Amino acid sequence: MKLWGGRFREQENRMMEDFNSSFPFDDRLYKEDITGSMAHVTMLGEQGIIPKEDADLIYKTLGQILSDLEKGRLALTGKSQDAEDIHTFVEGELIRRIGDVGKKLHTGRSRNDQVALDMRMYARRQADELIEKVQGLRKALHTTGSQHPCLMPGYTHLQRAQVITFPYWAGAYESMLTRDEKRLANTKELLNECPLGAAALAGTTHNIDRSRTAQILGFDRPAANFIDAVSDRDYLIELLSDMSLIMVHLSRLCEELILWSSQEFKFVDIDDAYATGSSIMPQKKNPDACELVRGKTGRVFGSLTGLLTVMKGLPLAYDKDMQEDKEQFFDAVDTVKACLDIMTGVVSTLKVNENVMEKSVRSGFLNATEVADYLVDHGVPFRDAHAIVGRIVIACEDKHCAIEDLTLDELRTFDPVFDESIYDFLDYHQIIRKGNKKEMLEASK
Ligand code: ARG
Repeated sequence: MKLWGGRFREQENRMMEDFNSSFPFDDRLYKEDITGSMAHVTMLGEQGIIPKEDADLIYKTLGQILSDLEKGRLALTGKSQDAEDIHTFVEGELIRRIGDVGKKLHTGRSRNDQVALDMRMYARRQADELIEKVQGLRKALHTTGSQHPCLMPGYTHLQRAQVITFPYWAGAYESMLTRDEKRLANTKELLNECPLGAAALAGTTHNIDRSRTAQILGFDRPAANFIDAVSDRDYLIELLSDMSLIMVHLSRLCEELILWSSQEFKFVDIDDAYATGSSIMPQKKNPDACELVRGKTGRVFGSLTGLLTVMKGLPLAYDKDMQEDKEQFFDAVDTVKACLDIMTGVVSTLKVNENVMEKSVRSGFLNATEVADYLVDHGVPFRDAHAIVGRIVIACEDKHCAIEDLTLDELRTFDPVFDESIYDFLDYHQIIRKGNKKEMLEASK
């Protein structure tokens, strides 16, 4: 069915029909499209714009179409249905079922405000699902972290730096995900304005009630400006940006897990369920889940850049360019949700080699900064303390030993202020109980 054949003298070119069609990918909006139409027709009936009994019949039939689609009694079979988009499909099916009465549904509405409504409702639902999955991963990090309260080396420049704990490391990702969740909630709040009633771009002469449809559909209010309502895709860009940051966080986590599961580190083992083998090297176990997530980050960034580029320089109001918002947004949503699920699995099944981590803490002079702190506590200016400890490190390197292996006499050759209490500053388990380092332990409880 075509919604717009009236003013055309010639048939549309077949190739153009395919080129123009969004049905092969916007069919996933069926639920939003139908519930949006049900709200619209309820309002048309209440306002007396169409007869109440017509509105009731349309409402009821739309409900049946939705339930038939959900129960698999009606198929969304893409191009074979000969529909230009999901909106055409639903309206066509309605008219097929109830004839002329169905033709009244589109009164006071355009596909421009209809698609804007569908996308907003879909985006709102996706934001909720993403929030739930982000929370799932955050909880998995917390659980795995608290199950392994061991010491581990903390890195800067990927060089061993200072002692931290494994739960505190996990907590860094928990913090990132907490921000991700807030960003999604914030985007959701901003987008929750209803575009329905803007019609093509200039409203309608019918006495429609925009507040009523906004209220039925759970929006905070109707959109302030009709022209903006049909041309705004900011919320999709914002969600793509939120999702891109989630992927930044996931890919950093993946990078660390890939590195740590290597023979060189052996800090963790990725569970067999999330690894794969090699077709030639029998001994290999590869961290493919993490590598794929790291790799998929690229396509999510691509969708963000893609939609920014589509929207840049578009004249008001609706332009068909905007149909290009869909595949990129849908692909990003599917990708990020799958990555969050996979990473929740990877993290909750992760084997943490506590002994290897704790052993690594003991080489690399991870207590050098604390020795300098000790000297400062004993009246040595920090810059001098830094230089003294530097000399101690060189001496230990020459002797192939750790700072804590030096005797008190040896330490005193570097500075006479050292006494027995220095050993408390050299013990890694004691170090994390000093000063504000205590927060690391408290946060991991
Ligand atoms: N399939 C279209 C889209 O996704 C629906 C809106 C069509 N509006 C129009 N004026 N042709 O953007």
